Amino acid sequence: MKVKNKKSRVNSNSPIGIFDSGFGGLTVFKAIRKLMPRENIIYFGDTARVPYGTKSADSVVSFSAQISEYLVSKKIKILVVACNTSSALALDELRRSIKVPVIGVIEPSVNAVCSDDRNKKILILATSSTIKSRAYSKQLRKKNKKLLIYEKACPLFVPVIEEGCAGKNFAKQIVKEYLLPLKKKKFDAIILGCTHYPVLKKVIKGVMGKKIRVINSSAQAAAAVYEKLSDLELLNKSKKGHERFIVSDDPQKFTALAGELLNIRIKNLKIKRF
Ligand code: DGL
Repeated sequence: MKVKNKKSRVNSNSPIGIFDSGFGGLTVFKAIRKLMPRENIIYFGDTARVPYGTKSADSVVSFSAQISEYLVSKKIKILVVACNTSSALALDELRRSIKVPVIGVIEPSVNAVCSDDRNKKILILATSSTIKSRAYSKQLRKKNKKLLIYEKACPLFVPVIEEGCAGKNFAKQIVKEYLLPLKKKKFDAIILGCTHYPVLKKVIKGVMGKKIRVINSSAQAAAAVYEKLSDLELLNKSKKGHERFIVSDDPQKFTALAGELLNIRIKNLKIKRF
């Protein structure tokens, strides 16, 4: 995989590039916007090829590379891989191939889990491809060998959420089907290892118990972006940042899901087809 534009010049005014397979990565966009209101941001949602979570590693790496190349051509100063599946399967390859710093969403969650001593038994929920990659468990074990880690792919969560059915009774039934058999293990924390899963957070807590700590990486990923830009002296000093959104298909659905599920009003939206 080759990503061009290695020598693109950037400065503090250059945008932060964020991508996801669809609208879910907007949770990371929101956290970045909150923490860094002065930054310019370009968000890319690959709505033509979502979901990534059921695709092969080769496909996910190739889609991720294509989008990264496109964003680098827009002179981004840092790339945020907001998609967990891309972070699990393509991050190393992207870090090798492009010159701008690359932040994924797995490391921030792993750090959040490991920074709390009370977290001994961990449940990771993610797409089939992320679970198959073992990216979360490998990184967690590297940091703390004593952790007891369980992983569960929940492939029906994304379609249920994308169809706007997270509040329906059958969504709760699906959550129960996946998680009830695991409840007796008494986990200390659950990692929501997929962009979409925070939408089901209440239902998941309802099934697993209110006391369980639920970790999703948006805020931690935003903090990692801040830290990196600060180290590089690339934080923007302008008054107010602007944002642009790009999708590869179906802008109406993207705008509707962003509004209904994440309360984000999308302006400046365009389509880029590959
Ligand atoms: N963005 C994906 C992830 O975080 C979820 C949706 C998909 O399968 O593409 O893994």
